[in-house]
Amino acid sequence: MTRPMRERVEVAAAALAEHGLSAVDTAIILGTGLGPLAERTVNATTIPYDSIEGLPRATAPGHSGRMIFGDLFKHRCVLMQGRFHLYEGHSAADVAFPVYLLKALGAKRLIITNSAGALNDRYVPGDVMLIEDHLNFTGANPLTGPNENALGQRFPDMSRAYDLHLRDIARGAALQVGVPLREGIYAGIAGPSLETSAERRFLRSAGADAVGMSTVLEVIAAAHAGLPVLGLSAITNAATGGSDQKPDTIEEVLDNAATSGIGMAIILERFFAMLQAETGRRTR
Ligand code: HPA
Repeated sequence: MTRPMRERVEVAAAALAEHGLSAVDTAIILGTGLGPLAERTVNATTIPYDSIEGLPRATAPGHSGRMIFGDLFKHRCVLMQGRFHLYEGHSAADVAFPVYLLKALGAKRLIITNSAGALNDRYVPGDVMLIEDHLNFTGANPLTGPNENALGQRFPDMSRAYDLHLRDIARGAALQVGVPLREGIYAGIAGPSLETSAERRFLRSAGADAVGMSTVLEVIAAAHAGLPVLGLSAITNAATGGSDQKPDTIEEVLDNAATSGIGMAIILERFFAMLQAETGRRTR
Protein backbone atom coordinates (compact mmCIF):
# COMPACT_ATOMS: atom_id res chain seq x y z
CA MET A 1 0.00 0.00 0.00
CA THR A 2 1.55 3.29 -1.04
CA ARG A 3 1.60 6.11 1.45
CA PRO A 4 -1.14 8.74 1.01
CA MET A 5 0.08 11.84 -0.82
CA ARG A 6 -1.00 14.09 2.04
CA GLU A 7 1.21 12.23 4.49
CA ARG A 8 4.22 12.36 2.14
CA VAL A 9 3.69 16.09 1.67
CA GLU A 10 3.35 16.77 5.40
CA VAL A 11 6.58 14.93 6.21
CA ALA A 12 8.57 16.79 3.53
CA ALA A 13 7.03 20.19 4.32
CA ALA A 14 7.70 19.74 8.05
CA ALA A 15 11.36 18.86 7.38
CA LEU A 16 11.78 21.98 5.23
CA ALA A 17 9.95 24.15 7.79
CA GLU A 18 12.46 23.01 10.43
CA HIS A 19 15.11 24.77 8.32
CA GLY A 20 12.91 27.85 8.16
CA LEU A 21 11.96 27.05 4.58
CA SER A 22 8.29 27.79 4.15
CA ALA A 23 5.96 30.73 3.51
CA VAL A 24 6.96 31.12 -0.11
CA ASP A 25 4.88 33.28 -2.40
CA THR A 26 5.49 31.82 -5.84
CA ALA A 27 6.78 28.40 -6.87
CA ILE A 28 8.63 27.78 -10.11
CA ILE A 29 9.40 24.46 -11.79
CA LEU A 30 12.35 24.81 -14.15
CA GLY A 31 12.36 22.74 -17.31
CA THR A 32 15.14 21.17 -19.35
CA GLY A 33 17.96 23.66 -19.92
CA LEU A 34 16.20 26.40 -17.93
CA GLY A 35 18.11 25.82 -14.68
CA PRO A 36 20.20 29.01 -15.08
CA LEU A 37 17.17 31.10 -14.08
CA ALA A 38 17.88 29.90 -10.55
CA GLU A 39 21.20 31.80 -10.61
CA ARG A 40 19.20 35.02 -10.46
CA THR A 41 17.95 34.09 -6.98
CA VAL A 42 19.42 36.12 -4.11
CA ASN A 43 19.54 35.17 -0.40
CA ALA A 44 19.31 31.60 -1.67
CA THR A 45 19.18 28.42 0.37
CA THR A 46 19.70 25.29 -1.72
CA ILE A 47 18.42 21.87 -0.69
CA PRO A 48 19.27 18.79 -2.78
CA TYR A 49 16.26 16.59 -3.54
CA ASP A 50 17.92 13.56 -2.00
CA SER A 51 17.86 15.24 1.40
CA ILE A 52 14.08 15.75 1.24
CA GLU A 53 12.10 12.71 2.31
CA GLY A 54 9.56 11.63 -0.28
CA LEU A 55 11.15 13.31 -3.29
CA PRO A 56 12.35 10.94 -5.99
CA ARG A 57 15.71 11.45 -7.71
CA ALA A 58 15.87 13.64 -10.84
CA THR A 59 17.80 11.80 -13.55
CA ALA A 60 16.90 13.78 -16.69
CA PRO A 61 19.60 15.74 -18.59
CA GLY A 62 19.57 19.47 -17.78
CA HIS A 63 17.91 18.80 -14.41
CA SER A 64 20.05 19.30 -11.31
CA GLY A 65 17.74 18.00 -8.61
CA ARG A 66 17.56 20.69 -5.98
CA MET A 67 15.14 23.16 -4.43
CA ILE A 68 16.21 26.77 -4.17
CA PHE A 69 14.51 29.09 -1.69
CA GLY A 70 15.18 32.80 -2.05
CA ASP A 71 14.26 36.08 -3.67
CA LEU A 72 13.87 36.03 -7.42
CA PHE A 73 13.25 39.45 -8.91
CA LYS A 74 12.43 40.71 -5.38
CA HIS A 75 9.81 38.03 -4.92
CA ARG A 76 9.88 35.27 -2.29
CA CYS A 77 10.16 32.12 -4.41
CA VAL A 78 10.95 28.45 -4.29
CA LEU A 79 12.42 27.03 -7.47
CA MET A 80 12.60 23.39 -8.40
CA GLN A 81 15.71 22.93 -10.49
CA GLY A 82 14.81 19.59 -11.99
CA ARG A 83 11.50 17.81 -12.24
CA PHE A 84 10.26 14.22 -12.49
CA HIS A 85 9.06 12.64 -15.71
CA LEU A 86 7.13 9.49 -16.57
CA TYR A 87 9.97 8.50 -18.90
CA GLU A 88 12.36 8.17 -15.96
CA GLY A 89 10.08 5.46 -14.60
CA HIS A 90 8.35 7.68 -12.04
CA SER A 91 4.65 7.13 -11.42
CA ALA A 92 2.15 9.86 -12.29
CA ALA A 93 1.74 10.47 -8.54
CA ASP A 94 5.49 10.95 -8.10
CA VAL A 95 5.54 13.39 -11.01
CA ALA A 96 2.79 15.37 -9.25
CA PHE A 97 4.20 15.15 -5.71
CA PRO A 98 6.27 18.39 -5.90
CA VAL A 99 3.15 20.36 -6.84
CA TYR A 100 1.40 19.36 -3.61
CA LEU A 101 4.60 20.07 -1.68
CA LEU A 102 4.92 23.54 -3.23
CA LYS A 103 1.33 24.28 -2.29
CA ALA A 104 1.99 23.12 1.28
CA LEU A 105 4.98 25.50 1.44
CA GLY A 106 2.53 28.36 0.95
CA ALA A 107 2.83 28.98 -2.79
CA LYS A 108 -0.06 31.08 -4.08
CA ARG A 109 0.81 30.47 -7.73
CA LEU A 110 2.92 28.06 -9.73
CA ILE A 111 5.02 28.94 -12.75
CA ILE A 112 5.71 25.85 -14.83
CA THR A 113 8.39 25.99 -17.50
CA ASN A 114 9.46 23.34 -19.99
CA SER A 115 11.25 22.71 -23.23
CA ALA A 116 9.12 21.79 -26.20
CA GLY A 117 9.29 21.01 -29.88
CA ALA A 118 7.43 23.35 -32.23
CA LEU A 119 4.53 21.72 -34.06
CA ASN A 120 3.45 25.16 -35.24
CA ASP A 121 5.54 26.03 -38.30
CA ARG A 122 5.57 29.75 -37.46
CA TYR A 123 7.56 29.09 -34.27
CA VAL A 124 11.35 29.08 -34.32
CA PRO A 125 13.81 27.55 -31.83
CA GLY A 126 14.64 30.10 -29.16
CA ASP A 127 11.02 31.37 -28.98
CA VAL A 128 9.01 31.49 -25.77
CA MET A 129 5.42 30.21 -25.76
CA LEU A 130 2.79 31.08 -23.19
CA ILE A 131 0.74 27.93 -22.63
CA GLU A 132 -2.91 28.61 -23.27
CA ASP A 133 -4.09 25.07 -22.68
CA HIS A 134 -2.90 21.49 -23.00
CA LEU A 135 -3.66 18.10 -24.48
CA ASN A 136 -2.74 15.20 -22.21
CA PHE A 137 -1.42 12.44 -24.48
CA THR A 138 0.61 10.72 -21.76
CA GLY A 139 -2.08 8.12 -21.07
CA ALA A 140 -1.57 8.83 -17.36
CA ASN A 141 -3.28 10.93 -14.69
CA PRO A 142 -1.92 11.64 -11.20
CA LEU A 143 -5.41 11.53 -9.72
CA THR A 144 -6.06 7.92 -10.69
CA GLY A 145 -7.08 5.93 -7.60
CA PRO A 146 -8.96 6.94 -4.47
CA ASN A 147 -9.34 10.70 -4.15
CA GLU A 148 -7.61 12.36 -1.23
CA ASN A 149 -10.31 14.83 -0.24
CA ALA A 150 -7.88 16.80 1.91
CA LEU A 151 -5.91 17.67 -1.21
CA GLY A 152 -8.71 18.45 -3.64
CA GLN A 153 -11.96 17.33 -5.13
CA ARG A 154 -12.59 14.14 -7.12
CA PHE A 155 -13.36 15.80 -10.46
CA PRO A 156 -11.34 19.00 -10.68
CA ASP A 157 -12.39 21.47 -13.35
CA MET A 158 -9.79 21.81 -16.11
CA SER A 159 -11.55 24.42 -18.25
CA ARG A 160 -9.24 27.17 -16.94
CA ALA A 161 -6.18 25.08 -16.18
CA TYR A 162 -3.82 27.92 -17.15
CA ASP A 163 -4.86 30.95 -15.14
CA LEU A 164 -6.36 33.71 -17.29
CA HIS A 165 -5.18 36.55 -15.08
CA LEU A 166 -1.58 35.31 -14.86
CA ARG A 167 -1.62 34.91 -18.64
CA ASP A 168 -2.80 38.52 -19.02
CA ILE A 169 0.04 39.73 -16.83
CA ALA A 170 2.62 37.63 -18.74
CA ARG A 171 1.35 38.92 -22.08
CA GLY A 172 1.53 42.51 -20.83
CA ALA A 173 5.01 41.95 -19.39
CA ALA A 174 6.33 40.51 -22.66
CA LEU A 175 4.87 43.43 -24.59
CA GLN A 176 6.46 45.96 -22.24
CA VAL A 177 9.93 44.44 -22.44
CA GLY A 178 9.68 43.73 -26.17
CA VAL A 179 10.23 39.98 -26.04
CA PRO A 180 8.00 38.21 -28.58
CA LEU A 181 5.68 35.79 -26.82
CA ARG A 182 3.86 33.05 -28.71
CA GLU A 183 0.68 31.65 -27.24
CA GLY A 184 -0.49 28.15 -27.91
CA ILE A 185 -1.51 24.64 -26.95
CA TYR A 186 1.01 22.25 -25.38
CA ALA A 187 0.66 18.53 -26.06
CA GLY A 188 2.15 16.32 -23.34
CA ILE A 189 3.49 12.88 -24.28
CA ALA A 190 5.16 10.29 -22.06
CA GLY A 191 8.41 9.88 -24.05
CA PRO A 192 11.29 9.20 -23.88
CA SER A 193 11.25 8.51 -27.62
CA LEU A 194 10.40 11.59 -29.63
CA GLU A 195 7.28 11.57 -31.77
CA THR A 196 7.27 10.03 -35.22
CA SER A 197 6.63 12.44 -38.09
CA ALA A 198 3.12 11.01 -38.41
CA GLU A 199 2.49 11.59 -34.70
CA ARG A 200 3.67 15.17 -35.05
CA ARG A 201 1.30 15.76 -37.96
CA PHE A 202 -1.48 14.17 -35.91
CA LEU A 203 -0.77 16.45 -32.92
CA ARG A 204 -0.78 19.48 -35.22
CA SER A 205 -4.12 18.48 -36.67
CA ALA A 206 -5.41 18.04 -33.10
CA GLY A 207 -4.66 21.72 -32.50
CA ALA A 208 -1.37 21.54 -30.61
CA ASP A 209 1.39 24.12 -31.19
CA ALA A 210 4.16 22.53 -29.13
CA VAL A 211 4.98 19.09 -27.75
CA GLY A 212 6.94 17.97 -24.71
CA MET A 213 7.33 15.29 -22.06
CA SER A 214 6.26 17.12 -18.93
CA THR A 215 3.88 19.69 -17.47
CA VAL A 216 0.44 18.19 -18.10
CA LEU A 217 0.42 15.94 -15.01
CA GLU A 218 1.75 18.76 -12.83
CA VAL A 219 -0.97 21.06 -14.12
CA ILE A 220 -3.65 18.45 -13.32
CA ALA A 221 -2.30 18.25 -9.76
CA ALA A 222 -2.24 22.05 -9.51
CA ALA A 223 -5.88 22.22 -10.63
CA HIS A 224 -6.68 19.56 -8.02
CA ALA A 225 -4.84 21.56 -5.35
CA GLY A 226 -6.40 24.87 -6.40
CA LEU A 227 -3.04 26.39 -7.36
CA PRO A 228 -3.18 28.90 -10.26
CA VAL A 229 -0.66 28.07 -13.00
CA LEU A 230 1.34 30.10 -15.48
CA GLY A 231 2.95 27.87 -18.12
CA LEU A 232 5.87 28.89 -20.34
CA SER A 233 7.54 26.72 -22.99
CA ALA A 234 11.02 27.19 -24.37
CA ILE A 235 10.78 26.27 -28.04
CA THR A 236 13.86 24.19 -28.68
CA ASN A 237 13.40 22.46 -32.03
CA ALA A 238 11.12 22.27 -35.04
CA ALA A 239 8.75 19.31 -34.69
CA THR A 240 6.32 19.88 -37.53
CA GLY A 241 6.56 16.37 -38.96
CA GLY A 242 7.53 17.65 -42.40
CA SER A 243 9.86 15.67 -44.69
CA ASP A 244 12.51 18.40 -44.43
CA GLN A 245 13.09 17.83 -40.73
CA LYS A 246 16.51 16.93 -39.46
CA PRO A 247 16.89 14.56 -36.51
CA ASP A 248 16.54 16.21 -33.07
CA THR A 249 19.45 16.11 -30.65
CA ILE A 250 19.55 16.82 -26.93
CA GLU A 251 22.46 19.25 -27.57
CA GLU A 252 20.27 21.33 -29.89
CA VAL A 253 17.44 21.23 -27.34
CA LEU A 254 19.70 22.42 -24.49
CA ASP A 255 21.29 25.16 -26.66
CA ASN A 256 17.98 26.61 -27.78
CA ALA A 257 16.49 26.27 -24.29
CA ALA A 258 19.28 28.56 -23.09
CA THR A 259 18.27 31.15 -25.73
CA SER A 260 14.58 30.92 -24.81
CA GLY A 261 15.60 31.04 -21.14
CA ILE A 262 17.10 34.51 -21.61
CA GLY A 263 13.80 35.82 -23.04
CA MET A 264 11.85 34.00 -20.37
CA ALA A 265 13.90 35.61 -17.59
CA ILE A 266 13.33 39.09 -19.05
CA ILE A 267 9.59 38.46 -19.23
CA LEU A 268 9.47 37.03 -15.71
CA GLU A 269 11.36 39.96 -14.20
CA ARG A 270 8.68 42.34 -15.53
CA PHE A 271 5.93 39.84 -14.68
CA PHE A 272 6.99 39.89 -11.01
CA ALA A 273 7.19 43.69 -10.98
CA MET A 274 3.65 43.86 -12.35
CA LEU A 275 2.44 41.27 -9.86
CA GLN A 276 4.07 43.22 -7.04
CA ALA A 277 2.45 46.46 -8.17
CA GLU A 278 -0.91 44.73 -8.28
CA THR A 279 -0.54 43.18 -4.82
CA GLY A 280 0.64 46.55 -3.46
CA ARG A 281 -2.46 48.24 -4.85
CA ARG A 282 -4.71 45.62 -3.27
CA THR A 283 -3.14 45.84 0.21
CA ARG A 284 -2.91 49.63 0.32
N1 HPA B 1 9.26 16.40 -28.52
C1 HPA B 1 9.04 16.08 -27.23
N2 HPA B 1 9.63 16.66 -26.23
C2 HPA B 1 10.47 17.67 -26.49
C3 HPA B 1 10.76 18.05 -27.81
C4 HPA B 1 10.12 17.38 -28.88
O1 HPA B 1 10.32 17.67 -30.08
N3 HPA B 1 11.65 19.07 -27.72
C5 HPA B 1 11.89 19.29 -26.40
N4 HPA B 1 11.18 18.43 -25.65
